[in-house]
Amino acid sequence: RAFLYRLWKGNVSSKMLNPRLQKAMKDYLTANKHGVRFRGKRETGLSRAQLLCQLRSRAPVRTLDGTEAPFSALGWRRLVPAVPLSQLHPRGLRSCAVVMSAGSILNSSLGEEIDSHDAVLRFNSAPTRGYEKDVGNKTTVRIINSQILTNPSHHFIDSSLYKDVILVAWDPAPYSANLNLWYKKPDYNLFTPYIQHRQRNPNQPFYILHPKFIWQLWDIIQENTKEKIQPNPPSSGFIGILIMMSMCREVHVYEYIPSVRQTELCHYHELYYDAACTLGAYHPLLYEKLLVQRLNTGTQGDLQRKGKVVLPGFQTVHC
Ligand code: C5P
Repeated sequence: RAFLYRLWKGNVSSKMLNPRLQKAMKDYLTANKHGVRFRGKRETGLSRAQLLCQLRSRAPVRTLDGTEAPFSALGWRRLVPAVPLSQLHPRGLRSCAVVMSAGSILNSSLGEEIDSHDAVLRFNSAPTRGYEKDVGNKTTVRIINSQILTNPSHHFIDSSLYKDVILVAWDPAPYSANLNLWYKKPDYNLFTPYIQHRQRNPNQPFYILHPKFIWQLWDIIQENTKEKIQPNPPSSGFIGILIMMSMCREVHVYEYIPSVRQTELCHYHELYYDAACTLGAYHPLLYEKLLVQRLNTGTQGDLQRKGKVVLPGFQTVHC
């Protein structure tokens, strides 16, 4: 519990994590499997307003548009949706919800509040059916990692989870964001199922995030953190928060920073326990959460009882 109180105040370090998680973090630092070379400089004292401006100016949402090699020569300009993600709601949505898949959302009764937003973002295979009372049933955008597209157990082709929503997929690329290298050796080959899905469902908005966007987010997390963070991409949760901040005037994030219901239950829809899901091992999740905590404009009461953080959309921040 002491850790949770400190997390709500933004006053924690990785040294307070259990030894297993600390060891995992250290191993990822040593492995550096994506070839990260941090060239920025740390500046950890930025104000909330400065941080928001930094995120807005340096990490604009970017998706593959088919104009760069190798995609240009492969006909991707005509394959990707004609309307870019940033233009789907050109005047901006008013209020949006980002619903994390954490077990701590169980018994929250947040479903009605979540569905009252203009748009709702969910992650990977997180269901709504059977969990409506706690997570709601509206889904506008779904962020999926490359394993969802490639692992047959997820039934990407025919599951209703991936229909009638805006889909945004991503895959960890080299830090260099060399698209040729990435295309030849993605973490999981999402390119083939993406092409197939685009051809079969040309009217569904479906995008792949540009690796530059993902690594720019990583740079900003590292610049604003005193400790050395894991040299791996930010979690889908952090990526999703940033996407909604660019599409909405106000963003309500649920159970990213855990409420009093905090549990080691990884996902609300799966019987699997691991503290790493909430605090991170591969992803620099703890540091993402500390950054988001610094941006929160909501109340401490909402943070503790609902696990809710309220963030301004980029359209409303003045830089
Ligand atoms: O596990 P998955 O990536 O599908 O979950 C979506 C996002 O929700 C994660 O990327 C993470 O940011 C957030 N999450 C969390 N705590 C959990 C489970 C998920 O913060 N226990």
